[in-house]
Amino acid sequence: MNTLAGKKIILGITGSIAAYKAAFFVRLLIKSGATVKVVMTQSATAFISPLTLSTLAKNPVITGIADGDEWSNHVELGLWADAMIIAPATANTLAKMANGICDNILNAVYLSARCPVFIAPGMDLDMWTHPSTQGNIQKVLSYGNKLIEPESGELASGLVGKGRMAEPENLLKELIDFFRKEQSLTGKTVLITAGPTFEAIDPVRFIGNYSSGKMGKALAEKVVARGGQVKLILGPTKLKIDHPAIEIIPVTSALEMFEAAKKHFAQADVAIMAAAVADFRPKHTAKEKIKKKKGIEEMTIELVKNPDIAATLGQLKKKDQVLIGFALETENPVENATRKLTKKGFDFIVLNSLKDKGAGFNHDTNKITLVFEGNKTQEFQLKSKLDVADDILDAIENI
Ligand code: C5P
Repeated sequence: MNTLAGKKIILGITGSIAAYKAAFFVRLLIKSGATVKVVMTQSATAFISPLTLSTLAKNPVITGIADGDEWSNHVELGLWADAMIIAPATANTLAKMANGICDNILNAVYLSARCPVFIAPGMDLDMWTHPSTQGNIQKVLSYGNKLIEPESGELASGLVGKGRMAEPENLLKELIDFFRKEQSLTGKTVLITAGPTFEAIDPVRFIGNYSSGKMGKALAEKVVARGGQVKLILGPTKLKIDHPAIEIIPVTSALEMFEAAKKHFAQADVAIMAAAVADFRPKHTAKEKIKKKKGIEEMTIELVKNPDIAATLGQLKKKDQVLIGFALETENPVENATRKLTKKGFDFIVLNSLKDKGAGFNHDTNKITLVFEGNKTQEFQLKSKLDVADDILDAIENI
């Protein structure tokens, strides 16, 4: 899908010099098949004329709550749209969005919108790097809005740096990509294993690991955002996941995870093995709590190997199924990951870094390298686990 055919887009324009690009952007949106309604702040009208935009958008432009036309009702407008994009977004508008200030039609529409909201900031470099702007960006992103990063280059002030609003072609690409992904997994079922496993020693003790399950949760949320269904086989975690398209199958031990994975794999189009499965479990689980005994200074717990869930699915895998694994390596990472890829029958493996700050267990960010057959690799920057999940799903869709 390379168009916005049938999509209803609100373009919010605020008072930055980059507002002049809005005319080109509206043209591109209309050419892509979108229906466009433009909302402007008063200061935006000083940079570009509403008449230019209403002519290009083929719809009246709204600049005030009291305009009185049929769609100056901000609630109706907010509910009408499939997406809202604020381009350019000034530091002032970002600050209002961060704090729920609603003193103009644009912010009123923003607060009423149930659709995804994209923000394309456009401002001078010092305004962009100012801690208050950066703090506001973090805040608006935490509300689920999407940032289209400004670009670097010469600014209207003559200074050179980051702050230029992304070019209209790039804004359009972001929207098209978003709607394409929104449906790319429709009708597909994705099985995900996530979290740690706890291997019982006695009724109160276990052998476990620090896996938080956050990567698996991010993958589940992104699959659903692309229209797919998820079966999430989840070891013991503190995560709260509540979505009608995510079926949670709670397990505790590797053996339970193994049984659940075998049971559900046949209905899955894709399986992603993100769990940190204990390789061994105690040979015997004591029925009662093991007591300290006087004079006994050492104790041995005999361990037996757990089944390899991923390798088993690799053997059961049919031609049209995709199987993805994770690897956490500290030595010779790519060679070791490649060995696992072949041994377990993965289509590709996600190599996790423990060396980079902010990556791995319990963080909200991760830094990954995808390793494919034939030692082919694709390296990514440190990103939020949600963005990492998108990179992984993009790679799955490109297989
Ligand atoms: O062998 P290693 O544990 O490093 O392999 C990691 C990959 O294999 C991960 O995708 C993990 O979820 C999976 N795995 C598994 N069952 C095991 C051990 C690992 O599914 N018993």
